This record gives sequence, structure tokens and C-alpha cells, in this order.
Amino acid sequence: MAGGDVKGRGTWATGIGFILAAAGSAVGLGNIWRFPYITAENGGGAFVLIYLGCIVLVGLPIMIAEIMIGRSTQKSTVSAFRELSGKGSPWISLGWIGVLCGFLILSYYAVVAGWALHYVWRSISGAFTGQSADQLQAAFEQLSTDGGQSILGMMIFMAITMALVLGGVEKGIERWARILMPVLLLMLVGLLLHSLTLSGFGDAFRFVFGFHADDLTGAGVLEALGHSFFTLSLGMGAMLTYGSYLHRKADIVGNSVAIALLDTGIALLACLVLFPITFTAGIETAQGPGLVFISLPIAFAKMAGGGILATVFFALLSFAALTSTISMLEVAVSYFIDEHGWKRRKATLVSGAAITLIGIPSALGRNWFDLMADFTSNILLPVGGLGTALFIAWKVGDRLRRDEFIAGSRFATFYGLWLGVLRFFVPIAVGLVFLKAIGINIF
Ligand code: PFF
Repeated sequence: MAGGDVKGRGTWATGIGFILAAAGSAVGLGNIWRFPYITAENGGGAFVLIYLGCIVLVGLPIMIAEIMIGRSTQKSTVSAFRELSGKGSPWISLGWIGVLCGFLILSYYAVVAGWALHYVWRSISGAFTGQSADQLQAAFEQLSTDGGQSILGMMIFMAITMALVLGGVEKGIERWARILMPVLLLMLVGLLLHSLTLSGFGDAFRFVFGFHADDLTGAGVLEALGHSFFTLSLGMGAMLTYGSYLHRKADIVGNSVAIALLDTGIALLACLVLFPITFTAGIETAQGPGLVFISLPIAFAKMAGGGILATVFFALLSFAALTSTISMLEVAVSYFIDEHGWKRRKATLVSGAAITLIGIPSALGRNWFDLMADFTSNILLPVGGLGTALFIAWKVGDRLRRDEFIAGSRFATFYGLWLGVLRFFVPIAVGLVFLKAIGINIF
């Protein structure tokens, strides 16, 4: 499908290009690094089920709303909210939250992405082979506390992200999504085939899909909801921005379903790759962020062919992170292009350099890193997502909303259901996450 280039802003050249770029934004460290360890921390199957419910009932409806705002205005976050709500309207602050989030999330996300890159190098150079569990644990602790190495990794990752964003929508973002996403899927399937042969696969499968209601806690439910925002890249205008490059006739609902399915499928596959490896090696999984960077290398060190598997795994993690960092940078870049009339080159270089600078404190210390991660995921994203839902559900006219929903869609009959969920269920559910974030626990 060819797009109509709106005022030279750029547009997706193909329908599949949009799906891959948006799925690339969604699939990232959240799926492969974070989802498995929060699943382990929350006892497995019951948490997974609640998470799936959150994706369908909260994430998907908000994704449709976000893409709608972008597509109808063909503008980036701040300009889009201004166009739909009028100059000086408080709703415009949702656009600002998006730009701020783009800067803040990317600043710490790039640090973890830099570690992933570092681990690709370590795997290739055989640094894991023959290492004891203690040595591997110490190696990660050393990397994550050695500011110099973390800053270097982060800078390299930011430089690659900037280079790809410089190419623009079609020749940069879309082109690389079309290369990286299929490679990522191939690597994941290859690793899955390997995990299927391991003795721990059965236990891992039961862990991820077995439902034990007693494992579920109120905090787990809220964590699942919060994660569904992060993993689908919602609440900060990334989907809005990508939607602004979408062709007028494209099916927003069908595309959103495809993106959510890819994102969720890959998160589940990541669990089915990871847990058989750690279960077979008899390693503790409830290790938090160290699951991927400590437990997994320990298991790889014990396995035949572990060096190759480790290389593939960390390359997969880096690729997944890259298609996400591209989308975060694009939120900031498109803001400067649309609002200040900057050229893409200037917008990319200035915002990329600023984000790299803001990332330095995250690379230097856990406290700042955790502050950034908690503030963005627990406060800014829920506020942005809730605001977007309220905006589309209650503020914009039915005409725009309905037209955008049904344009070219096979799902037109679900319009009423979607609107009902967005009007009532989403605000209550997201309100609960938000209350928890500010310390009020309803459960
Ligand atoms: N969805 C990404 C992940 O799961 O890793 C993270 C992310 C990307 C969040 C882009 C927000 C965003 F705008």
C-alpha cells in the first residue's frame, strides 16, 4: 500500500512496514528482559493470564486511540493534541508528557541496551565459557556499577539509534524494522527449538501457563497492568507518532490487533526460551533484573554450544531494544520537526545528544536509574495513557472517532464495545495503577 506523503513529513511505504515498525517499538527489553523476571517474581501462570487480560482490555483499546490521534491529524504528539483540542487547551499537556517520556525513558533504557550490546561482545569473545556462577554474577555487578563501561555502551547504542533515525520514516525506521524484526523472529524461533529439546521445558511450560490462583496478589495485578503500557509503548506518543505516518485508508484496529499479538506472542516465547534453560540448569529464576544478565549466562556456561546460544540471545535482545529506542527518539525528533520546523538531521542530533547526556546519571548509579524507571512507568505512562483514553472517549467528537475506527476495518462492528471499554473500564483500571503508584493501595 502506498502512502500519501503529508507535507513532506514522511509516510510508511507499505502496510506491513507500519506493523513491523510499531511491533518493533512494542517488542523490546520489556518483553525479553523484564517480562520473564516479573512473571517469575509473581509466580507464573496466574500473572500471565491477568497480563493477557490487561493487554486485551486496556492496552489494545488505548493503542487504537493513540494511533487514531496520530493518523487523523498527521502530526506528532504536541501538535496533534493542539489540533484536536484547540490552542491553549490543557489536553496539550498530554503531548508534552509524551516528549518528556521519550527523553526520560530512552535515557535509562539505552543503558540496559548498552549492557545487552556488551554481552554480545562478551559472548562472541568467549568470556562466559568456563566461568563459575559467582564469577558471572560478579561480572554483571561490575558492569552495572562501572559507570565508564555503562556510559560507553549507552553512547554506542544511542549513536546507532540516531544513525537509523536520521534515515527518516521510510528509509530509516521502516527499512530497519523490515530487516531487524524478521531476523529477531528467526533467532527467537531458533532458540525456542533448542529450548524444546531441554529436560526443563515441561516444567517451564507448566510454570508459564499453569494457573494457580493463590499465586496472585493485588500488587501482581497492578504490575501486570503497568507492564501492559510499557510493553505496548503506550502513554508517551510513540504509537501516536507512528500513526501519524499511516495511510488514511489503513485499518487502525486490524493493525493494532496484529501489533498486540506480535508483542504478546514474543513475550510468551521469550519465557519459553528462557525458563527451560534456567530450569534445566537448576538456577534460581526469581532474580529480578539479573535473570537475563546473570542466570542465563550461568546456564549458558554449563551448556554445550552455550557460547553460540549466548551470542544469538544477546543479539536478539539488542535488536529488540534497537527497534524500541528508534521509536522513542522519533517521538522527540518529530516534535522538533513539526513544532519548530527543524530539519530531521538537526532534530536527531540535538535530541539524541541531549538524551545521551541525561542518560549519564543512569549509567553511573542505580538510584537515579530506578528513579527514572519508576517515575516514567508508574506515573508518566499511566497518566499519558489514561489521558489519551479520556481524550478520545469523552473529548473528541463521535464523527472523527467513528470514521477513524471504521476506515478500511473488518472490525467496524466492535466500535460500540471499544468505546464502552475506553469510557468506563480503562479509566477505572488505570486509575488503580496510578493510585498504587502514589502509594494508595486499594488491594
Ligand atoms: N515497548 C518497549 C519494550 O517493551 O521494551 C518499551 C517502550 C518503547 C516504551 C517505546 C515506550 C515507548 F514509547
